[in-house]
Amino acid sequence: MQPARIAPSLLAADFARLGEEVQRIEDHIDMLHLDVMDGHFVPNISFGMPVIASLRAATSAYFDCHLMTTNPDVYFEDLKEAGADLVTVHIEVVPNPTKVAAQAQQLDLDFGLVLNPLTPFEGVEPFVELADLLLIMSVHPGFGGQSFMPEVLPKLEAARKFVDSHGLPVDIQVDGGITAETAPLARRAGANVFVAGTAIFRDPDPVAAVNRLRTAIDSVE
Ligand code: DX5
Ligand code: ZN
Repeated sequence: MQPARIAPSLLAADFARLGEEVQRIEDHIDMLHLDVMDGHFVPNISFGMPVIASLRAATSAYFDCHLMTTNPDVYFEDLKEAGADLVTVHIEVVPNPTKVAAQAQQLDLDFGLVLNPLTPFEGVEPFVELADLLLIMSVHPGFGGQSFMPEVLPKLEAARKFVDSHGLPVDIQVDGGITAETAPLARRAGANVFVAGTAIFRDPDPVAAVNRLRTAIDSVE
């Protein structure tokens, strides 16, 4: 099994102290998950390029930018400039991601495809080889603090089976309601990258929370 990677979602952090929040945990995490929302694709607005650029000056963490926006490719260049390392786009807004994958590649951005809980794996299947990462949402996107949807577990299994059987070097990420209780379920189903917002940043000791999550995931054989 690939080693598990933890990607704390900054959406649950204290926005008045973002730099400190990141610096407190950066040595204990594998990437930082940045939820960009446009108030159109999802019914919420979070943050964008200026915040990401400011954070870039505060940390060398790998920036995983989850784009919950209607026209994600429009922002690739600015995101690269701001310090993004990976951009993930929803298949629901880019049903044929061939062009946007090439755009990301041209900008030297890693590229990922995201599926909402109700979007079947089949929609993304023809394009998996274009991606460095597949993100299977385990909540409806837009808000932190929701409960993990176990009904997405079969989709995680399908994604894992597909990438392994095709020998593709694609990471399988899960996002939404991830805790020390739910992460092992996602691990067993095939996830190797775990996004967690509330479980990490709302804990009085976020480093301990990251470690607890890692221990819970690593307990899965
Ligand atoms: C939801 C976001 C998630 C969110 C996860 O739209 O994509 O990344 O921050 O938050 P928790 O871990 O609280 O479910
Ligand atoms: Zn996210």
